[in-house]
Amino acid sequence: IVVDPFDYVVFGGTGDLARRKLFPALYHRDFDNQLPETARIIGVARRDETTESYRADVEDAIRASLPEGDIDGEALGRFLSRVVYVRADGTRDDGWDELSRVLDERRECIRVFYLATASNLFGPICHRIKNHDLITDKTRLVLEKPIGHDLESSRAINEAVGQDFPEDRIYRIDHYLGKETVQNLMALRFANVLFEPLWNAAHIDHVQITVAETLGLAERAKYYDQAGALRDMVQNHMLQMLCLVAMEPPTCIWADAVRDEKLKVLRALKPIAGRAASNVTVRGQYRAGAADGHAVPGYQQELGPGAPTSQAETFVALKLEIDNWRWAGTPFYLRTGKRLPSRVSEIVVTFRPIPHSIFSRDAGPVVPNRLVIRLQPDEGIKLWLMIKDRGPGGMRLRNVPLDMTFREAFGQRNPDAYERLLLDVVRGNQTLFMRRDEVEAAWRWIDPILEAWDANKEGVKPYTAGSWGPSASIALIERDGRTWYEED
Ligand code: BG6
Repeated sequence: IVVDPFDYVVFGGTGDLARRKLFPALYHRDFDNQLPETARIIGVARRDETTESYRADVEDAIRASLPEGDIDGEALGRFLSRVVYVRADGTRDDGWDELSRVLDERRECIRVFYLATASNLFGPICHRIKNHDLITDKTRLVLEKPIGHDLESSRAINEAVGQDFPEDRIYRIDHYLGKETVQNLMALRFANVLFEPLWNAAHIDHVQITVAETLGLAERAKYYDQAGALRDMVQNHMLQMLCLVAMEPPTCIWADAVRDEKLKVLRALKPIAGRAASNVTVRGQYRAGAADGHAVPGYQQELGPGAPTSQAETFVALKLEIDNWRWAGTPFYLRTGKRLPSRVSEIVVTFRPIPHSIFSRDAGPVVPNRLVIRLQPDEGIKLWLMIKDRGPGGMRLRNVPLDMTFREAFGQRNPDAYERLLLDVVRGNQTLFMRRDEVEAAWRWIDPILEAWDANKEGVKPYTAGSWGPSASIALIERDGRTWYEED
């Protein structure tokens, strides 16, 4: 369905996110004929560019980010003709008159300001948007994560932005919520009768959430070294996934009904603080090793010669508990890292063992059921069940998966998360975006971990690039008699 006419204004228009994610996503939507004829995309940055040179740059970025088969010359040409560049500075008044002039050409259409910049610029940019009278009745604001680097800074930013934009116009993006399989969690849980009766501590032994990347630091050293994996991945993507797994059924799928339930989970997280934090968290940093079959340098080497010794974690594993009726007694194990052996993100729900076995020893072990929700690559859902092995040799049990991959089931390209989310903003649908109280509740839980690491002088444990992180991460789960799930 074609959305209403819009102007999409991207601050940070020459940055990594705009180039790698936002423009390719908008191009795809255009290719699928979902952008109205008059839609414009206005890149804003400080760099000296003309609209012409910027279009060439956007074209390069799209070609570099998408497989060749996804590029259609005509569609790309149409998309580029929508692109306009305005040179403006978020922290000074330079260029804003020009931005006003361009936007005033189309005051009646939906206007989206997407701030793909560091979050300390959000307040200053919003004030300028307001002072230059750029907020119309149909204006929306998108904020990229992470918002701040702790609860205090996040509050200050939300406060500053809130002076110019009411909450119902603010879209705090967490692109994991736009991933098909993450959204599918809601369908799986609440459109089937099978799982919900079992979805609690009485029947679920534990849950694992893994987001593994083979990528290293790439060009994002400056940001990443300040952030580290806990702030970059856990505070947002991983906690959001945890919320969708653990929340109570919302009464409907409206934004606030879902967000209210997620918030309750965040508030029920058992604090990890003080000396105890060392028992349930692991921080790691990769050393030289191999990734995707190539030798790769260590994190510190990537920072460059002369860089001070970094204590940023590129890997984090932790065990957390949710203090509520449904989940008391079921731990959640989270891990994420850069330069791990493969790019794989999945949620693994392990059910409890059967209460009593009727089978003889010869039948083999009865393995607890597992539900594996694979987010990437090869999005799909796998349910491990016990069956009888074939043949006349008596009752022998076997653990086999019911396996559904999206590629086979739908046979079409899986849209990138940003494709859905960018147009949800135009449609005015906030369901897949974070509310201010969610972001702050997440920081409220993260802050004591950061403080404990600091107070306990919890340094980063080295791991070889291409391995599954420090051995302490394996010990973290094995101590409880469990293991990280590995695909056979
Ligand atoms: C971003 C993080 O939010 O998510 C990156 O800042 C990370 O460090 C990325 O690489 C992972 O996203 P995806 O969609 O590739 O899993």
